[in-house]
Amino acid sequence: MKTEYYKINGSAEDVTALEKAGEILRNGGLVAFPTETVYGLGASALSPTAAEKIYAAKGRPSDNPLIVHVAHPEDADELAITSSLYYELAERFMPGPLTVIMPKRECVPDAVTGGLSTVAVRCPENKTARRLILAAGVPVAAPSANRSGRPSPTSASHVKLDMDGRIDMLIDGGDCEIGVESTVVTIVDGRCTVLRPGAVTEGMLSEVCSSVSVDKAVTDPALAGEHPESPGMKYKHYAPLADVILAEGDLGDFVSYVNENAGEKDAVFASRNESALFSCRVLETGESGTPAELNHSLYSLLRMADELSLERVYIKCPPREGEYLALFNRLIRAAGGKITKI
Ligand code: TXA
Ligand code: MG
Repeated sequence: MKTEYYKINGSAEDVTALEKAGEILRNGGLVAFPTETVYGLGASALSPTAAEKIYAAKGRPSDNPLIVHVAHPEDADELAITSSLYYELAERFMPGPLTVIMPKRECVPDAVTGGLSTVAVRCPENKTARRLILAAGVPVAAPSANRSGRPSPTSASHVKLDMDGRIDMLIDGGDCEIGVESTVVTIVDGRCTVLRPGAVTEGMLSEVCSSVSVDKAVTDPALAGEHPESPGMKYKHYAPLADVILAEGDLGDFVSYVNENAGEKDAVFASRNESALFSCRVLETGESGTPAELNHSLYSLLRMADELSLERVYIKCPPREGEYLALFNRLIRAAGGKITKI
C-alpha cells in the first residue's frame, strides 16, 4: 500500500487533511498521528478487523492490548465502566499522558483488548491527536507507531522508517514533547496501581488518590515474565541493536568506567554540560540532563545508536523513583534487565 503523508502547518489545509484521515479511520484504515508522548498508530476501536490491521502492521503479538484514545474524558463512559476515581484522575490529568484501565463494555471488541475484560482509555493533550479523534467520530485504538520491538517513535521520520507502505496515512505534527509513553494505571476499589510509569508520576497520582502503588514489574522486568498485569510488560521492548550498558555508580566512577571501556564503535549518553568529561563518542541527551530532557531524547538516541551501527551504548543508571522512574523502566528493558554495578 502507498502511505500518504501530511505535515500539519497551521493552515486551512490541515482541516481537509484531518477530515480525510478521520474518514480513513472511520472506514477501517490505519493512520499514524502525533501525541504528546509518542506517535500512535490509529485504527477504529470499534472494529475488530481494523484492530487486527494494527497487529499486522506492527508485527505485534495479538494478546497485547491496545490503548483506546478519546477526545473527551467523559467519552470513556461509552467504552468502560467508569468510577468516581476515574473522574478525579481525569479532572487533574486529562487531557494528558495518563491511561486508565477499567472494566470494558460490550462494544469494545476482543481484538482491541487482547481478549481481556478490561479496556485502557487515554485522552491525549496533543491538539492534532484530538482533532483527528473528533474528525474520526469513533474512539481510536492506538499503540505506539513502531515495529514491534523497536524504540517508540517520537518524530514522523521514525514512523516513516518503521511503517512506510504498511499504513494508509501518516500525519506529521513535529516532535513529541514528552518522548516516553503515557503512565498506565489500573483502578480497582478506589486503589490505583501503576503498570507503566510515565510523565504522570506516583507522587502526582497520590495527590488525587490515597492509595497508589507501583507494580513490581515496572522495576523488575523478570517479574513481568511471570505474572504480567500488563501484557506489554512481558515482551522485549525498546531494544536497539547495540548492547545497552546500564551502569550504576556516581558520576566520577561512571566517567572513569566509560573512558576505560568504551571503544570506537561505542558511545555514551550524556548531557551537553557533561560531554567534555568523556573521551569516547557522546550522544547528547540535552543541556543539563533533567528527567524531562532525558525522556525527550531517549528513543531518538536509541534509534541513532542503530543508525550509527554502534556496538555498545553506556548509560548512567537513573534513580528508580519519582520523575526518573519512567526512564529507568525503559532503560532496564533496553538493557535486557541487566544493571552493571561499578
Ligand atoms: O503514550 C501512549 O500511551 C502511546 C500513545 C500512542 O498514546 N501508546 C502506547 O501504546 O504506548 P502501546 O500499545 O505501545 O502500549 C500500551 C500498553 C501495553 O503495555 C499494554 O499491554 C497495556 O498498555 N495495556 C493496554 N490495555 C491494557 C489492559 N486492558 N490491561 C492491562 N494492560 C493494558
Ligand atoms: Mg509500544
